[in-house]
Amino acid sequence: MSKMDEQISQAAAILSRSASAGALCGAGVSAESGVATFRDAGGLWERLDPAEVATTERLIHTLETNPGRLIEVFFELLDAFEKAEPNAGHVALGRMEQMGVLKTVITQNIDDLHREGGSQNIIEVHGNVFRTRCLGCGSKVNNDRRALIREIRDKLNAMQEYSLSSLISLARTCQKCGSPMRPDVVMFGESVQQLPEAYRAAQDSDVMLVLGTSGVVYPAAELPLVARKAGATLIEINPGENSFARGADIYLPMKTGDALPAIVEHLSG
Ligand code: OAD
Ligand code: ZN
Repeated sequence: MSKMDEQISQAAAILSRSASAGALCGAGVSAESGVATFRDAGGLWERLDPAEVATTERLIHTLETNPGRLIEVFFELLDAFEKAEPNAGHVALGRMEQMGVLKTVITQNIDDLHREGGSQNIIEVHGNVFRTRCLGCGSKVNNDRRALIREIRDKLNAMQEYSLSSLISLARTCQKCGSPMRPDVVMFGESVQQLPEAYRAAQDSDVMLVLGTSGVVYPAAELPLVARKAGATLIEINPGENSFARGADIYLPMKTGDALPAIVEHLSG
């Protein structure tokens, strides 16, 4: 048995003994679905400066002064989100939940791929880009991913020029109160969503899978530490150098799309 096979079977054995396993996911889990991560080579933060786009005020300022490059990246993101399918890692997490092994997926991802991959108990701490939230009454609507993308792309293509006001016209209108809706995602400086649930899930986890995250954005990055403090075993899966790497009990330097299905195979074998 290779060292990696050994670690996979060890991870599976720990999970099969667990009574309440949780997972904390980051962008790496969606990398194999064609959605770029933030901090890897070619990642979003190499292409856009977070200082220009990551808060609502800065984003509006950048759209007013220099929309060109933003729009270019925006079209690429629309494309990636449209083409993305849940990968083997998402599907394996869904299977683990079905098998009763995994209780909760806490994710920093906004792409809805966990749900499409079969997970049900999902805590989306950074929101969901296909859910819209009314700026007036706060009501939230889950939108069909591809229909929303098509609508936005059609509107963008029909624009003569990109100005702040034309871009604001991309927003859907609330059916209840008529106010504009925004994507229900967490920008820098905004509160994380479902934080009490995320802390509770971390505290209740006896095993936490730390998957495809660099673990630099708080408070999400604190959740594995919360779990460990409450006695959890940490299993990290991440092939990259900027991994969470804070003393996981088991560290698998592999892609989640390879490692998670291999673990599921052990669990069902
Ligand atoms: P990062 O881009 O910081 O980290 C991605 C991680 O995924 C890295 O550790 C990679 O090594 C790893 N990775 C790459 N490919 C992988 C694969 N196939 N399988 C497993 N792991 C892989 O992304 P996050 O940690 O998710 O927040 O970033 C956290 C937050 O920073 C995001 O939610 C976003 C961003 O600013 C907000 O926008 C609020
Ligand atoms: Zn409303």
